[in-house]
Amino acid sequence: MKIKRVCILGAGTLGTRVALQSALSGYQVAIFDISAKALESSQKLMEKIVHQLAKSSGMDDTAGRNAIASITFTDNPNVAIWDADLINESVTEDIAIKNAVWEQFGKIAPEKTIFTTNTSYLLPSIFAEISGRPEKFCALHFHDVFYAKVVDIMPHPGTDPQLIPLLMDFGKSLEQVPVLVKKENHGYLFNSMLMAFIGAAGKLLTGEVGSIEDIDKSWMVNFHKPMGPFGILDSIGLDTAWHVTKNKTDGASKRFASLLKTYIDAGKLGEKTGEGFYKYPNPAFRQEGFLE
Ligand SMILES: NC(=O)c1ccc[n+]([C@@H]2O[C@H](COP(=O)([O-])OP(=O)(O)OC[C@H]3O[C@@H](n4cnc5c(N)ncnc54)[C@H](O)[C@@H]3O)[C@@H](O)[C@H]2O)c1
Repeated sequence: MKIKRVCILGAGTLGTRVALQSALSGYQVAIFDISAKALESSQKLMEKIVHQLAKSSGMDDTAGRNAIASITFTDNPNVAIWDADLINESVTEDIAIKNAVWEQFGKIAPEKTIFTTNTSYLLPSIFAEISGRPEKFCALHFHDVFYAKVVDIMPHPGTDPQLIPLLMDFGKSLEQVPVLVKKENHGYLFNSMLMAFIGAAGKLLTGEVGSIEDIDKSWMVNFHKPMGPFGILDSIGLDTAWHVTKNKTDGASKRFASLLKTYIDAGKLGEKTGEGFYKYPNPAFRQEGFLE
């Protein structure tokens, strides 16, 4: 089977990036969201990313603009799914929302469509049955797409093994480095390690052992990194981080989830809303002198 048409569900932080890279790689792309505002913001974010890529990697600005113009932005599920060879789902990290979306698209998708989810910490087996085609269901989990280019391919026990090489090739065609997660694992490979790191940073902050800035500085200086754990959280989105942290049962995670919730309630979701632990577009950790 050859993948030609891709349907992205959810036009947020991640869905936008996967849709843009798919269009840049020559796929026909439709991106679906229930929120018209999200679809509008998605297009603006794509323009911003293309502009940044043109500046940083010399990407052809016109090719980028043409790719965006080729994408169908829609809140109509039937338009989004038309003739799709593959769905990559990036809706909110919430079991009830994802279940509803998979039930909905499982009913209207063409028979040929492969179903993939971008869930960060849930497992594909949670949604495989409700989608109506467990054998065609697999996690295909991107990171940032343009700067962090690993894509995790994680089947559940009922996934047809023939899907794996196909998804590996699809990942490569999107300029990602595919890695196979041999067993279902919350957080795949990288996120399992990242959550331990973020959790440790959260514990240091809520335990009042160090400030946001000093915790970030420790990491940035010693590892020569452009951002520390709280900068990373701002780029992931504090709402997504909260959805993950709130499900943990240990005291430190509960305290950190409560702290993240105060930011969310204040509308501070990170870079995407202009403020999280830092203020954007010029966060303190990117300013001259931060590491002195
Ligand atoms: N942000 C990241 O860096 C990142 C990285 C890898 C994976 N993910 C995963 O991708 C998924 C999306 O995360 P995000 O950060 O892009 O979230 P986000 O909040 O930025 O975007 C989610 C989008 O889903 C839409 N949505 C909600 N219900 C919907 C429905 N019923 N139908 C269609 N759209 C609906 C929302 O309107 C929103 O635009 C999550 O599962 C997350 O774990 C995120």
